[in-house]
Amino acid sequence: MPLWTGRFKKALDKKTNDFNSSIPFDCRMASQDIKGSIAHAAMLGKCNIIDISESEKIVAALKQIAQELENDELSIDMTAEDIHTFVEGELTKRIGDSGKRLHTARSRNDQVALDLRLYLLDECDKLENSIKAFISVIIKKAKENYDAVMPGYTHLQRAQPVTLGHHFLAYANMLLRDLDRLFDCKKRMAVSPLGSGALAGTTYPLDREYTAKLLGLSGVSSNSLDGVSDRDYVLELLSTLSIVMVHLSRFAEEIIMWCSWEFKFVELDDAFSTGSSIMPQKKNPDIAELVRGKSGRVFGDLMTLLTVMKGIPLAYNKDMQEDKEAVFDAVDTVLMCVETFAPMLETATFIRQNMRNAAAKGFINATDCADYLVYKGLPFRDAYKAVGGLVAICIDKGLTLETLPLEEYKAVCELFDEGIYEAIDLDNCVRKRTVKGGPSPKCVLEEIEEIEKKLDI
Ligand code: ARG
Repeated sequence: MPLWTGRFKKALDKKTNDFNSSIPFDCRMASQDIKGSIAHAAMLGKCNIIDISESEKIVAALKQIAQELENDELSIDMTAEDIHTFVEGELTKRIGDSGKRLHTARSRNDQVALDLRLYLLDECDKLENSIKAFISVIIKKAKENYDAVMPGYTHLQRAQPVTLGHHFLAYANMLLRDLDRLFDCKKRMAVSPLGSGALAGTTYPLDREYTAKLLGLSGVSSNSLDGVSDRDYVLELLSTLSIVMVHLSRFAEEIIMWCSWEFKFVELDDAFSTGSSIMPQKKNPDIAELVRGKSGRVFGDLMTLLTVMKGIPLAYNKDMQEDKEAVFDAVDTVLMCVETFAPMLETATFIRQNMRNAAAKGFINATDCADYLVYKGLPFRDAYKAVGGLVAICIDKGLTLETLPLEEYKAVCELFDEGIYEAIDLDNCVRKRTVKGGPSPKCVLEEIEEIEKKLDI
């Protein structure tokens, strides 16, 4: 039975009922709905809005319902209109008239706004834990490869040598910012809208702060119209999750490229790759591709809710029921992607020799060659030009800067001496990049320490 039968002469049309019903998806908020109702009932009792004995009865029965749901002794009736209807119906079935007092000074509009906040706060904790675990894996791989020289790229062209550890830590930093963003979202999410009623507050002398405190929330919303119709906290979470997916997708793209024979910088573990039904030689990075692909879903979820919200007048409108499937999908997708990516990365073998070989080609040490002249007193622009000339000679002669004879160097610039070969040695090139935030093995180890401190690991 819906909660709103009084003025209606007919039951809802069957298909319309299915269309209107949200229980197939809001059933996941059962425990948060009950938690919210327990706090509300306790507050009603404390404020003498309902009898304290009735409040206690409601709280005890709600706790019992929560317990039975948890133990699979009670199943949710999927014909109820929504989770709020189910819980209230079950309560009334058990304790009769006392149960009917629960909804005093409350509307489903402030109730659903609260439930979603509580649910997403719990999900944010899960997301934080799984992102932290992922960062730990990245740190582990960075430690293993803190001194592995590889080409750094711009425009996907070999640019300057870096270390694989440094490359990994770039992703650790992105994910650390994602954690910050999640943390920030939670601040605005942890606010109780209860007391906003349907839209215009209530005449009962509620103690809104008390309810919020019981729920572990940091405060109460300031405006009843905003309290029931604000979904910014969902949009903020969806934006944060979209940025997480941008980061995962970029990382996935690199893994995919590095798996190719053209790069062969990494070999994925068999448990995290798939084959082809026709080409026996194939080993495909499907998992990384799926992560890259699933970013589209999460961006879509953000776009869904932005579009839902942009044109609805104050206060509650049923359009807002569309918030849940979008944000549930985004949270599930991100959790799944992070939790699959982490072991895929952990078990992957990075082929340091191939990375080094790639770094040895493409004149990746040309900037260091120019810097060598700068240290000898030449203005950088002149040094740049001289080395450009040297690179052109090497290309003509099929040589590298390492194999170009000293006479050729000297013919271009008198300042060159034997020391040039040491200056352009790849290991030296990375070792010298010790300015904070750089790729030298020393910097990588320092950065790891900083991140571990931040993560408390
Ligand atoms: N299922 C609804 C939602 O998710 C609950 C709120 C219903 N309120 C109402 N006035 N119809 O938004």
